[in-house]
Amino acid sequence: MAALLVVRGLAAAVVAAFCFMSPPPVEGLVRHYKFNVVMKKVTRLCSSKSIVTVNNKFPGPTIYAREDDTVLIKVVNHVPYNVSIHWHGIRQLRTGWADGPAYITQCPIQPRQSYVYNFTITGQRGTLFWHAHILWLRATLYGAVVILPKLGVPYPFPTPHKEMVLILGEWWKSDVEAVINEATKSGLAPNVSDAHTINGHPGPVQGCLTRGFSMPVQHGKTYLLRIINAALNEELFFKVAGHKLTVVEVDAAYTKPFNTDTIVIAPGQTTNALLTADHGSGKYAISASTFMDTPIVAVDNVTAIATLHYTGTPSTTPTSFTGLPPQNATPVATKFTNSLRSLNSKQYPAKVPLEVDHSLLFTIGLGINPCKTCSSGNQVVADINNVTFVMPTISLLQAHYFNINGVFTDDFPANPPIRYNYTGKQPSNLHTMSGTRLYRLAYNSTVQLVLQDTAMIAPENHPIHLHGFNFFAVGSGLGNFNHKKDPKKFNLVDPVERNTIAVPSGGWVALRFRADNPGVWFMHCHLEVHTTWGLKMAFLVDNGEGPEESLLPPPNDLPKC
Ligand SMILES: *[C@@H]1O[C@H](CO)[C@@H](O)[C@H](O)[C@H]1NC(C)=O
Ligand SMILES: *[C@@H]1O[C@H](CO)[C@@H](O)[C@H](O)[C@H]1NC(C)=O
Ligand SMILES: *[C@@H]1O[C@H](CO)[C@@H](O)[C@H](O)[C@H]1NC(C)=O
Ligand SMILES: *[C@@H]1O[C@H](CO)[C@@H](O)[C@H](O)[C@H]1NC(C)=O
Ligand SMILES: *[C@@H]1O[C@H](CO)[C@@H](O)[C@H](O)[C@H]1NC(C)=O
Ligand SMILES: *[C@@H]1O[C@H](CO)[C@@H](O)[C@H](O)[C@H]1NC(C)=O
Ligand SMILES: *[C@@H]1O[C@H](CO)[C@@H](O)[C@H](O)[C@H]1NC(C)=O
Repeated sequence: MAALLVVRGLAAAVVAAFCFMSPPPVEGLVRHYKFNVVMKKVTRLCSSKSIVTVNNKFPGPTIYAREDDTVLIKVVNHVPYNVSIHWHGIRQLRTGWADGPAYITQCPIQPRQSYVYNFTITGQRGTLFWHAHILWLRATLYGAVVILPKLGVPYPFPTPHKEMVLILGEWWKSDVEAVINEATKSGLAPNVSDAHTINGHPGPVQGCLTRGFSMPVQHGKTYLLRIINAALNEELFFKVAGHKLTVVEVDAAYTKPFNTDTIVIAPGQTTNALLTADHGSGKYAISASTFMDTPIVAVDNVTAIATLHYTGTPSTTPTSFTGLPPQNATPVATKFTNSLRSLNSKQYPAKVPLEVDHSLLFTIGLGINPCKTCSSGNQVVADINNVTFVMPTISLLQAHYFNINGVFTDDFPANPPIRYNYTGKQPSNLHTMSGTRLYRLAYNSTVQLVLQDTAMIAPENHPIHLHGFNFFAVGSGLGNFNHKKDPKKFNLVDPVERNTIAVPSGGWVALRFRADNPGVWFMHCHLEVHTTWGLKMAFLVDNGEGPEESLLPPPNDLPKC
């Protein structure tokens, strides 16, 4: 069957290429990948450790596919950890079994076991990424997903000379699982990372023999940078000294192009930007530095540096650096976010739901619960609508599909259980409730979801990621969402479409999406520390009518718990 599809896809592709016409509707290719998950010894910051990798590569291999292709990735676990991999931002229409979050859509792939992720890419083009979705393994288990347009379909921007993936990460000298385990035992925050990385490299470090990643460019050519934030816990500013960037796409959805010298990118977000090498020669710093506007939160403040190297420039030439925004530069972040708009062209319309079936208000924030096993006696927790999510021991999607009772309830609160001034004086009681509660949606119903930050402990910027859907960010603001005044200012014409949105510190964002994908879909803060603390929930979308509107049956090799 797979071979047949390849042949059919190829034949159609050849016909399209020879006729120079717009290609006829074709089924895409089937692309096969094999991911061997293996340990590898790596040295960074003058210090070595063993890390979990795919195929001995760090960052891991890039998945290339075109829109409409089917991707089959066989993941074989050769490490002593349970593993699962999430294809971050892929819509996974009816293929929730291939989404990847452990205990949400599958049981983990246990040591010596394997699983084939099988999904088709529909209606998306641009950059996404894959990463582990269990424990804190995604610290080193990540790589890019590049989705090219259908054969014969051009980009809606000038064709670049070359493309380059720039994947940003975080590096701990210690074993990352030891870092989070230590924090869980104490009930307090984990140690921050020791460095940021660009394509796996922190850049020059005093006393260490490291140079950092170097990107060669030619004078006068334009490059497409596919920028990915794969860091665990930090939002980042991205800059290239002496060069402007033109943003053309975020989260695999085209945007109206705009120029900027600084990109703001939260964990879980991707940004495609054009860069023209308009200098004669030289070396220019590419930098990734932390954005954090909550003073009390500890961060890694070490800037990662890579180099844009014009061909012909001697390597002894000193690198030109750029000024970095201050760590707490909220206005820089807000200006960037407010510049993002969907392309909304005839070919790529922004299909914003205009009617709303479910109007939801979810508060997001932190709390403190007593903890008998914690050395501090308490435990920092996080919640949505005061519910700290408890992970089940079998996957929610299996529990749903096979009607297994007692795993979850579908009574997730549509509104905060207690109304108060979310961004003002907080209740003195910082406790939260625990539960594995889902919010149920009928197939094709529409949702307006306002995410409201709270000031519990402290207001903080949270990048919230929704699996299985893209949403439109129709509004945002500071303070408390006002359900009378604020909707009047919503942009229902060309709001940015994405899968991860940074909710401003002490503010809110309003999202809209159509529940056109049956299954169980995780939603969580993409700061891994907050996910661990419970800032997560899931939507359950029922089947519609007939097989085309229903979740596919689980594959035979779906891992068992
Ligand atoms: C992948 O899933 C499709 C259904 O979406 C199925 O027809 C096909 O057989 C699967 N391929 C493999 C190799 O499991
Ligand atoms: C966390 O940081 C503390 C203080 O620097 C250090 O003592 C501890 O060993 C670190 N933990 C891990 C797991 O690296
Ligand atoms: C970075 O953080 C460390 C530890 O908190 C601090 O000592 C140092 O001054 C900070 N550096 C900068 C440039 O802010
Ligand atoms: C909420 O608290 C903030 C900060 O104290 C204050 O500015 C605002 O007026 C309060 N809002 C309401 C509705 O009370
Ligand atoms: C959250 O739930 C806990 C436990 O039921 C309760 O004590 C607390 O008052 C609630 N807080 C809010 C803001 O809803
Ligand atoms: C979903 O709802 C929209 C708007 O009511 C409608 O146009 C569309 O046909 C529906 N799709 C399905 C598959 O039911
Ligand atoms: C791996 O996953 C299985 C299935 O959920 C579970 O029983 C086992 O305890 C897990 N192993 C570890 C080391 O957590």
